[in-house]
Amino acid sequence: TGYVTLDQGFVNTASCASAITYIDGDAGILRYRGFPIEQLAGKASFLEVSYLLIHDKLPTPAELAEFGDKIRVHTLLQEEMRAFFSGFPRDAHPMAVLSSAVTALSTFYQDALDPADPEQVEISGIRLMAKLPTIAAYAYKKSIGHPLPYPDNSLDYVENFLRMTFGLPTVNYEVDPTLAKVLDMLFVLHADHEQNCSTSTVRLVGSAQANLFASVSSGINALSGPLHGGANSAVLEMLEGIRADGGDVDAFVRRVKAKEKGVKLMGFGHRVYKNYDPRAAIVKKAVQDVISTMDRPDPLLEIALKLEEIALADDYFVSRKLYPNVDFYTGLIYKAMGFPTKMFTVLFALGRLPGWIAQWGEMMADPTTKIGRPRQLYTGEAERQFVPITER
Ligand code: CMC
Repeated sequence: TGYVTLDQGFVNTASCASAITYIDGDAGILRYRGFPIEQLAGKASFLEVSYLLIHDKLPTPAELAEFGDKIRVHTLLQEEMRAFFSGFPRDAHPMAVLSSAVTALSTFYQDALDPADPEQVEISGIRLMAKLPTIAAYAYKKSIGHPLPYPDNSLDYVENFLRMTFGLPTVNYEVDPTLAKVLDMLFVLHADHEQNCSTSTVRLVGSAQANLFASVSSGINALSGPLHGGANSAVLEMLEGIRADGGDVDAFVRRVKAKEKGVKLMGFGHRVYKNYDPRAAIVKKAVQDVISTMDRPDPLLEIALKLEEIALADDYFVSRKLYPNVDFYTGLIYKAMGFPTKMFTVLFALGRLPGWIAQWGEMMADPTTKIGRPRQLYTGEAERQFVPITER
């Protein structure tokens, strides 16, 4: 006691012990519960990976079916909750709608919020997994003034989300199975990433014994920041900006290197990875596959590929070990799928949800958990004498 060390941004300080996700940032390794991301992406479904993260085992077919069924019966929102969406302005940011709606969800389940009761924790996690895609689709529908659809539980998790997002009561909408598969894979890539900003937020809020909805809602707000999940939208805005300026990639890189205020190579760099982000390698392959199926290839892909090529050969980026992160190429896929830029970070949140649930659950189940309460180095005035306002 009395001895405090400063670690700005927690660069060297572990906030917890965790058995969920392993990252070796120098080697570019990411494993969920011991399984390399390359073995899971494209092979295990998002629900399978969610089960793995939450329950620490690969599900059997029967366990996966049961998990899926449990989620399926909770996809509806209460009608009062649906009315909630009409109160937002049409141009509301969908991340703000998402976090508000998740907080609001807790008001419907007040008798099942006890963080110390494993059954209540389980049903809260199921409810969140089931309802977040519905909320996300409604946030989008609201933004374009369309009616809010009901979930179709004959569809699988991602297909249901895509139909709620893009379907219309007046048009027979068929989910493209290739796109559904790619989105499912992207969710897998985002499913957990140990103690990142939003997950640390979820844990910190939960460490005060706040319920799972309150904790996850706080995580969504942390994720919305452009240095975290918001980077996927920021990348697309950056690529569009470069295109609007005539597509001069070299000129843009010069501005980044000159550290012009507010100009960063978005989608590059990572606190932990000092090597190619293994998720970015998988996304890069997927973006080329998706865009090659399109009639007119996206000119932004060309700009992104050129940016990467220049950056990987430039001493500024090489010496700082700045490589593409997961967000560098995801936006191009989301755009190809028809999502507006504002929705990109919502998609990140849908993917990250099982990680938040697993990390929160791990913390709650650990009897040694204490409330998170960082210390500080005080840099203010020493003791001063108060002067009454009449004498100032
Ligand atoms: N463009 C240009 N320079 C950069 C970038 C970048 N994207 N990232 C880091 N740098 C420079 C930074 O200016 C600093 O230079 P110097 O040593 O001369 O002061 C050096 O590299 C170290 O950077 P840092 O800001 O101290 O590193 P950090 O670990 O605090 O930040 C980061 C990590 C991800 C916030 C940062 O790299 C960044 O802002 N990247 C762009 C935003 C982004 O893509 N975020 C998504 C991260 S992955 C998904 C997620 O977590 O949600």
